[in-house]
Amino acid sequence: MRKFVISCAAAAAAAVMCAAAQAAGGMPSKIPHPIDAYKITDASNPCIMCHGDQSKMGAAKVKGQPMAMPADHWLKGEKKADPMHNNCMMCHKS
Ligand code: HEC
Ligand code: HEC
Repeated sequence: MRKFVISCAAAAAAAVMCAAAQAAGGMPSKIPHPIDAYKITDASNPCIMCHGDQSKMGAAKVKGQPMAMPADHWLKGEKKADPMHNNCMMCHKS
């Protein structure tokens, strides 16, 4: 129950952040590939498998290669998205 309340609060906050980012002109990019096979949970996020190379953060887009999630998406010091960013599809639409 407690867990549910926390993730709801995070979801609401992420929606607000998303609207703010769009208003500021930094649009979340569209997802150019199918996502049905990638099931995101609190414990694991398969998107990070391909978009989690932190050594490529901020690098220019290379055609055909996944870009790295920007610094603000990460839980500090961990290879895990922060609770605001874990539900990728809240902001990135396919
Ligand atoms: C198996 C590897 C893989 C997984 C897993 C994956 N992606 Fe991607 N993603 C890619 C590749 C490769 C591209 C670039 C495609 C291109 O340039 O044509 C891409 C592109 C993107 C882009 C556009 C920005 C960019 O990197 O070019 C977004 C946004 C994105 N993916 C989001 C997601 C989300 C959200 C998930 C999880 C639901 C996810 N991806 C899972 C490989 C992956
Ligand atoms: C709260 C909204 C939000 C959520 C949730 C979110 N993102 Fe993003 N994302 C953005 C915004 C806005 C940008 C572009 C601005 C920036 O660089 O921060 C971005 C940029 C990116 C980029 C760089 C590609 C580009 O076009 O600049 C990748 C890759 C990416 N996100 C992947 C993900 C993945 C994977 C997840 C889930 C683990 C995720 N995002 C969750 C808002 C979000």
